[in-house]
Amino acid sequence: MRSEILDMMRRQQPGQYLSGEEISRQLAVSRTAIWKHIRALRQDGYDIEAHSRLGYILRQVPDLLLPNEIESRLSTKFIGRKIYYRSEVDISTNDVAKQLAAEGCPEGQVVVAEAQHGGRGRLARTWFSPFGKGIWFSLVLRPSFRLQDAPKCTLMAAVAVNKAIKKFTKVNCGIKWPNDILFDGKKLVGILTEMSAEIDAINYVVIGIGVNVNIPAEEFPPELAAIATSLMVASRDKISRLGLIAAILGELESLYTEVLRDGFSSILDQWRDESVTLGQQVDVFGFGNHFSGLALDIDSDGALLVQTPEGVEKVMAGDVSIRFLK
Ligand code: BTN
Repeated sequence: MRSEILDMMRRQQPGQYLSGEEISRQLAVSRTAIWKHIRALRQDGYDIEAHSRLGYILRQVPDLLLPNEIESRLSTKFIGRKIYYRSEVDISTNDVAKQLAAEGCPEGQVVVAEAQHGGRGRLARTWFSPFGKGIWFSLVLRPSFRLQDAPKCTLMAAVAVNKAIKKFTKVNCGIKWPNDILFDGKKLVGILTEMSAEIDAINYVVIGIGVNVNIPAEEFPPELAAIATSLMVASRDKISRLGLIAAILGELESLYTEVLRDGFSSILDQWRDESVTLGQQVDVFGFGNHFSGLALDIDSDGALLVQTPEGVEKVMAGDVSIRFLK
């Protein structure tokens, strides 16, 4: 009912009130019931002005990633059409998404939180997720492709988020292998992909995406200050999280649809075009091993190919740091 009232107010011409009578006629409920819903919406942070003769007008929506607000900006068919929203989660949105996926939620389900108290990154790191200043969400997919293709979902997500950020903010970011998005050598976005599978088939994939949106530089903890940044810092402007998450979900749906139809080869090309890793000297750390070399390319599995004095190494996992030549 509340989302219908909001939709009706949104459809009004700018500056035009919507009468209580009209709402109660269209939704077939009493004007007292409408008033109760308006009061609840105000408690959620909606700025709704009421005028005794003219009716209601929506002046401002809260700066929160509320499902109603995301949905009203979406152009997708299935990604983000079901949203589980929490103001805070004690765990990680990936853990919530995995629970929902195990219980049978549909493909395209999104879990979003304003803050995470158990935000997780790759390689068992924690993920800084302060309230209302980033986009912390997880997406459930149920792809029909081969098990060994699942890790490439991560590259697909990086391409989608990088594209959405460039279109929506004009921040000139790029992708670091496998799936970080950087601006000026500092991290804007991290992606953590997890999955459940049988020996030969994928049950579900959960793609967790964290975008540092409106975090002022001085609010990053000391250990991140030199290596992380936000879109607000990069663009010197506050960014609409609602507009950006809708843009990201739109890009995810169009790339995922392309992958299901044509495979990953165009995604790998788009990843190459947006890479800040290829052509750079890199240090690779992982599984007690460390080597350096020139990042040459990614192969059809999405693995990074690094030229070392001993030959070409294929990197499937681990941590890669880039020695940017300035
Ligand atoms: C990384 O760069 O190490 C990956 C970070 C992934 C962070 C996102 S935020 C939403 C989702 N929930 C989590 O706990 N992690 C991912």
